[in-house]
Amino acid sequence: MTTLTSEFAVERVKKSRVAEVDFNNLEFGRHISDHMVVVDYENGQWGSPSIVPFGEMKFSPAMLSLHYGQAVFEGMKAFHTKDGSINIFRPHKHLDRFNKSLHRMCMPSVPEELWLSSLKRLIEIDKEWVPKTEGASLYIRPFMFATESRLGVKVSDTFKFVILTSPVGPYQAKPYRLKVENKYVRTAEGGTGFAKCAGNYGGAFYPTQIAREEGFDQILWTDSKEHKYIDEVGMMNVMFVLNGKLVTPQLSTAILDGITRDSILTLAKEMAGFSVEERKVSIDEIEQGFIKGTLTEAFGTGTAAVVAPISVIHINGTDYQIPSAGPTSFQLQVKQKLHNIRMGLEPDTHEWNYLVKV
Ligand code: COI
Repeated sequence: MTTLTSEFAVERVKKSRVAEVDFNNLEFGRHISDHMVVVDYENGQWGSPSIVPFGEMKFSPAMLSLHYGQAVFEGMKAFHTKDGSINIFRPHKHLDRFNKSLHRMCMPSVPEELWLSSLKRLIEIDKEWVPKTEGASLYIRPFMFATESRLGVKVSDTFKFVILTSPVGPYQAKPYRLKVENKYVRTAEGGTGFAKCAGNYGGAFYPTQIAREEGFDQILWTDSKEHKYIDEVGMMNVMFVLNGKLVTPQLSTAILDGITRDSILTLAKEMAGFSVEERKVSIDEIEQGFIKGTLTEAFGTGTAAVVAPISVIHINGTDYQIPSAGPTSFQLQVKQKLHNIRMGLEPDTHEWNYLVKV
């Protein structure tokens, strides 16, 4: 069923909470905007979407997502551009990934019209929540979960699709000290690593907690068979500047097809002097890069952080240090370029920006 924009039932908040937000001091995910989109799926089709005040929902404690993890999310961002529009960054690519994740989890896909009209209407209504402060943005969290109430192990017949938004500041965490994981795995080839399903994140908590107790910030995840090849860092894709080239693990069923990853690789190919290699990257090769001095940068890429610098990788008992990224580093140049495109300061030659006039 195609859902039309005009079918939205809208119930507005009596009083907005936006005045309570300090837009100069935004902690990730702390404030949820006034409204949310809610759409139910039953009898094999999507119902009419509604936009309602953000608040508690009523559920059966027997709903299948709570027991068997049928739950998927996305993370995307919207920005204020220099001409006063609001730009949702690459919503079609995010929908494509959302639908791939949903397919892997036996959940219904979201039609493009429902996706775009939901995002557009929600942002129009909560436009005051889109930060105007430098480097800040509106984080958009679409998600879907199984709602059928039943303890039997089965694919749910009913689902709820919800979109929340939250104003977020620029990423400011200190560069990561990484532990190379050689015991636990985030996922395995053939598993759900490429999908943004809730269980991938919950399953990473315990090894990450252990790494933190050992004095690290995050984990450098390695392949499940040999712990030899690099998959991801923390909850992000990982990139290295090695021998003057941008090198990143090639996509597989164990690696998330990051939209920031794709954007950075695309821009790197256009930036003078950068060749890009998407291939298997071994821990040995990274260690050799440190020893020979050919590894000059390492960073994570993701929607939330955009670029997260790495300062130390602990390999085979040695803390290998990476010099801090200066203004001419690849990571800061590409981050700036991405920022400029999203803010309308540089031409959007790839048509990544989806402008909402407010
Ligand atoms: C991202 O930055 O892409 C993420 O998925 C992080 C999110 C889980 C907060």
